[in-house]
Amino acid sequence: SSKSEKIGEIIAEHHGREGPLLPILHDVQEEFGCVDAESEGLIAKGLNLSRADVHGVVSFYHDFTAEPEQRPVVQICRAEACKARGVEAIMEQARAAAGDRVKLHTVYCLGLCSVGPNARVGDTLHARLDGPALAKVIENA
Ligand code: FES
Repeated sequence: SSKSEKIGEIIAEHHGREGPLLPILHDVQEEFGCVDAESEGLIAKGLNLSRADVHGVVSFYHDFTAEPEQRPVVQICRAEACKARGVEAIMEQARAAAGDRVKLHTVYCLGLCSVGPNARVGDTLHARLDGPALAKVIENA
């Protein structure tokens, strides 16, 4: 399938580097929105690992999901610069705005460190967020 071809390409890209599993999983998650059982199998085969090894890593890190997320996703940067600019203080408001309807996903740097706190919805970046602005981004997601 084209999925196995794409995963093959991702494996080839990272093959030979030290610790290829995590970067491969990140790319697969990014490409397909999840790391499902089929992907785990392909990655295990490609890296000569057992399915259980790959599955262990996938379930350990909350960055990876077994199924594509059905809810709208709002990525919120909680790396150093955005922390210094107050992101933690507005997380409570973000959680309240999200409820169960929106999935909040923590990311580490969106490349706009000087204008944080920042969030991303799809391809759209939102900068200089305070609590109400972030809540609005979430409500519109
Ligand atoms: Fe948040 Fe870089 S630290 S965008």
